[in-house]
Order: sequence, then structure tokens, then C-alpha cells
Amino acid sequence: MNNSLQIRTFEEYQEKYKRSIEHPELFWGEIAETFKWQRKWDKVLEWNFSEPKVEWFIGGKLNITENALDRHLATRGNKTALIWEPNDPKDDTVRLTYRELYEKVCQFSNALKKQGVVKGDRVCIYLPMVPELMIAVLACARIGAVHSVIFAGFSAVSIADRVNDAEAKVIITSDGLNRGAKQVPLKRIVDEALELCTSIEHVIVYNCLNWPTEMKEGRDLWWNDIIADESTECQAEMMDAEDMLFILYTSGSTGKPKGVVHTCGGYMVYTAYSFQNVFQYEENDIYWCTADIGWVTGHSYIVYGPLITGATTVMFEGIPTYPDAGRFWQIIDKYGVNQFLTAPTAIRSLMAFGEEHVMSYDLHSLKVLGSVGEPINEEAWNWYYVHVGKERCAIVDTFWQTETGGVMLSGLGNLSPMKPTFAGYPLPGIHPCLLDQEGKEIEESDTEGYLCFKAPWPSILRTTYGDHERCRLTYFAYYDGYYFTGDGARRDADGMYRLIGRVDDVINVSGHRFGTAEIENAINTNSKVIESAVVGYPHPIKGQSIYAYIILDDATSDSQLARAEIIETVASEIGKIAIPEKIQFVSGLPKTRSGKIMRRILRKIAEGDVSNLGDTSTLLDPLVVEEIVKNAL
Ligand code: WT7
Repeated sequence: MNNSLQIRTFEEYQEKYKRSIEHPELFWGEIAETFKWQRKWDKVLEWNFSEPKVEWFIGGKLNITENALDRHLATRGNKTALIWEPNDPKDDTVRLTYRELYEKVCQFSNALKKQGVVKGDRVCIYLPMVPELMIAVLACARIGAVHSVIFAGFSAVSIADRVNDAEAKVIITSDGLNRGAKQVPLKRIVDEALELCTSIEHVIVYNCLNWPTEMKEGRDLWWNDIIADESTECQAEMMDAEDMLFILYTSGSTGKPKGVVHTCGGYMVYTAYSFQNVFQYEENDIYWCTADIGWVTGHSYIVYGPLITGATTVMFEGIPTYPDAGRFWQIIDKYGVNQFLTAPTAIRSLMAFGEEHVMSYDLHSLKVLGSVGEPINEEAWNWYYVHVGKERCAIVDTFWQTETGGVMLSGLGNLSPMKPTFAGYPLPGIHPCLLDQEGKEIEESDTEGYLCFKAPWPSILRTTYGDHERCRLTYFAYYDGYYFTGDGARRDADGMYRLIGRVDDVINVSGHRFGTAEIENAINTNSKVIESAVVGYPHPIKGQSIYAYIILDDATSDSQLARAEIIETVASEIGKIAIPEKIQFVSGLPKTRSGKIMRRILRKIAEGDVSNLGDTSTLLDPLVVEEIVKNAL
């Protein structure tokens, strides 16, 4: 392991932090020196937030997989890189050493090349949480193809949107997946998606379930067939530090999900640096993150961060409640997990099953407990700290985003002071601030504001694929000279940050991000719908849940039937994860005279707080509010 990267005390953190802000180029240049480059950079950083243009390690050449695999072979060739735990505890574990993972990645890299994939081509990956997902991601990176992983819970229409936007040449999938007691036919969903796509030349299918699978002659290929004759050595493509590494689609407050672009050099440096410091990983530790590789958490903290560090990373195919609510704790016990990263929504749902499940397992191996994806409420924090961590583990509440590539605000293992519900301090190199309504920086403590960052860090997004202006407008145009997160935060007298939630039209359901407009557009594709408005409201387990107010074209139609149809529409346009929990049919929506929907009022009604809806007399139709309140769910 790259010990030189590891901060060992809180005082050392404070010194490093100061230096990183005063001399960012020296600071990151020294860190980058510890990685394997095929050519050293000429300049560490050039940037402006007005275009925006951010470039790190300019002129540097590297391949991220040489850092994640090749450079470990001499010293860690026989160390376990990946422990894969199947959905069903009765099935066999897979363990791959660094050498075995290296060989599998090389072999699949060669197979991709054979199918005509070259540097710069986009490859979509729609796979379950099986080792082949990690292998496919790394194989793309090895040959310089841009991977775009699509979470295997998205619908055919969502796949098509992503494939088309990225103009992907190849998509990699499997016959189906296991998730708890359910199976999902992934290849069939891909086939449906591809009816809406023209760029795909090949579909590579991994056999997970031995299901009878229709294969289209000339287009579809079995994973096992195409690797059969390939060598287990493959020269890594030489990449520019600023060449694209991957695209990951994520929702925003407007329009369709956008493709967040990350590049090779900065992403490599920052994911490894943040991994090692946030989790305080030591050479023989076993690290487990429960996220899916379909989200950024899995990219940065199952695949890249841990592997570049030379860690042993656990990957789990299943869900927290199958076959029972002790599954997470059983896996920690089974492998002696030392660092564990999960989401507040998982903690809250397991809390509801009671402590007995935690008590049945030996969790003494745990040192650091991570939380990610949404604000963690005090009750969940305490439960995690007391019942899982036995009051002796550090809790790190890691705040970051798909766009930031890596953790921005968090404690560093047990080095930092802990305060329940506070993400805490910025990592070295991260320069947060709070802005007020006018865009002025708030200097006082114990105040709330819009969370922004003042300067770039190595893994900041570079663009949104195919639409740079959208990137500028979404993140850099609200406040001139700042990256705007879309989150509200509070800073206390100690300078620690506490996240409050999104301040834009983004809803976070169980850590999954959706735009209200995205869900409305999906609902509106149903021909019975005239108009809809979607808001988020607090939910005890999911964090937030979705409430849809819908105007039907025929108010007398069977509302049960309409509801079922709308649910079906959302499931097929986006995926089951975006189905509104509450659907209220209304005769009108509260609008201003200029026709803007008053979401503030709808949010209050969804929250069940109708005591102070503000002045509704200026609305186009004030009576409609009364009707909505009367029938609220
Ligand atoms: C949004 C980003 C971070 C990777 C997983 C989600 C919310 C994330 C925290 C946290 C409070 C958090 C924010 C952010 N969020 N982590 N520790 N405390 N809120 O990535 O899908 O890009 O979502 O998740 O609202 O903006 P994402």
C-alpha cells in the first residue's frame, strides 16, 4: 500500500489541509507522484469555473488499471483483491487474487478489442452485482473505452436513453439477475431497449442464471465464448490524464438524466487518496461497501479507490433483508470486515427489524462505519454507533455526489471528532463555503446556506456528455466562480458541516436521485394524464418519498385503474424505483398567474403541514388549494 498517502493524526490532517488550500499544485503534485504514470505531467492544474474548464496533471499519461492491478502484482499478486458474496448464502463465495483479477480483466479486454472496441468508444454495462461487472468496468478502462454503467433496476426506456445519448457501440448484460427472492430478465429488457437504439453493434451476455435466452445472430455473443481463446495478458492503452474514463448518468432538476463525465488522472488520484484516508485502510483489512456499482459509490469505493490502494474489497450480490434482516451482519462476521460503508436508508430499514439480528453475529472486527447518500438522522446514527459499532467504532458520514467523484466532507476514520448527523470537515484539497440568497459568502458560524466549493479538486466532473453548456448552467452558473452542489448545509461553531437536504427539484429516495421534472415527464406520457406535479416528502425509512398530483383527462374515470396504469407507466419509463408512493388525482394545480406551479404549497401539503400555506390569494385559482388539502393522502 501507498503508506505515504495516509494521514495519521487529526493535527496532521489540519496541517495537510492548510497546505492543500494554500498550495494546491504542490500538494496534489506530491500525492500524484506516488502513482504509476507512463509519462509525468507538465503542469498540475489549470482551471476556470466560468467555461468551466478544469484540467489536472496536464500532459500526464497513465492507465488507471495499471495502478489498480499491474503495480500490485509484484507485492500483492496472491493477496485477495475481491471477495464476492452471492445473493443466496448457500451458494459459493468467489475470491480473486490480484493476479487472478488482472488475468480476467486482460482476457476480457482482449475479447472487447476483438469485437472492434477501440479507445474512446462507449460501452454500456447493465449487469447484476457479479464479479464480471467489476471485470467489465476495468477491461473498458484498460483498453481506453469509456464505460457507462446502468443500474440494473432501470427500465428499457432508461437504458435506451443512455445508450443513445452516449452513442454506445457495445452493451454488456446477463441473462438475468438474482435480487433477494426475485429474478429479473436483464437480457429481455436490453432487447426491448435496443428496439429504440441504432448505435449498438454487439450485445455481450454473461450467463448468470442458465436461463433460455434468445440470441440475435451476428449481434449477440456469450461472454464465455468470446473469452475462450483470449490471452490473459493485454497491454494497457496509454491514456491522457484528461481522457474520459467513464460516463455516469444522474438526475437533475430539469430534463433527462445527464451524463456526468470523469477523466482518468484526477479521478484515480482522488478516489485512492480519499479511500485510504476516510476509511483509514491498513494492509490486511477487509473492506466492504454495500452500494451497487451502478451508482458512483460503487465506482469510486468498490472498484477504483480500494483496488488502486491494493485493498481487499467485498462485493455483495444481494439485499440487506434476504434471506433475513441479519444478512449484512452475517457477512461482516463471515469475512471479518474491518471497514463497512452503507446507506442511512438501509440502516433505518434494518433498525425496524430489531436488534436481535445484529446481536446474533460477531462484529468485533469492525473499526470504521461509513454512511453515504443522504443525511443520516440522529436515531439511525445512534443505532449504528451503539448496536453495530458497539460504541467503539468511528462513524464517517461521507458527503459527496456523482459529480464530485469522491468524498468531499467526512471524518477520517477515528482521527476526527464525531458529531451525530454532521458530515464534519472537508477533506484536504476541498474548499467548501456557504452562500446566501444573493450569492454572498456567509462567514458566521451556526448558520445555513447553499453549499458550494470554491476551487477544483482532482475528481470534479469535467462536463456533461455531449452538452457542456448544460454542465455550466447546472453547476457553475448559479453563483459566479463557485461549484454549486444543490444542497443546503449548516456550519457550526467548530466549523463542522451538517447537510440539510437538496434545495433544488431533486428528490432523494433511498439514496436514489430523481428530478421532479423527470418523473412528471414519465407520468405525462400516459395518455390519460393532462398534467402532473411531483414533490418529495419526508419518509421514515426512505428518507424521502414521491408524491404525485395528477390531473386526468376524464375526472370520472376509474381512479384505481388510472393509478395502476400510471404506476406501470413510471415503471416502464424510468424503473420501479421511481414509482410515486402517493398519487392524488386533482382537478387543478396551484399556479401563479404566469402559470408556474407552486411546488412550495404542494410540498407542504405532502408533508401534512397545511397550517401555514402562505398567501394563496394571488394564485390563478385559489380554490384548487382547498380541494387538494381536503383530499390529501
Ligand atoms: C446527493 C448526491 C454520494 C454518493 C451517493 C449519492 C445527498 C450524499 C450525503 C451525506 C447528506 C448526502 C446530497 C447529494 N448526499 N451523501 N453524507 N449527507 N446528504 O450520490 O446520487 O450523486 O447524490 O446525495 O443531497 O447532493 P448522488
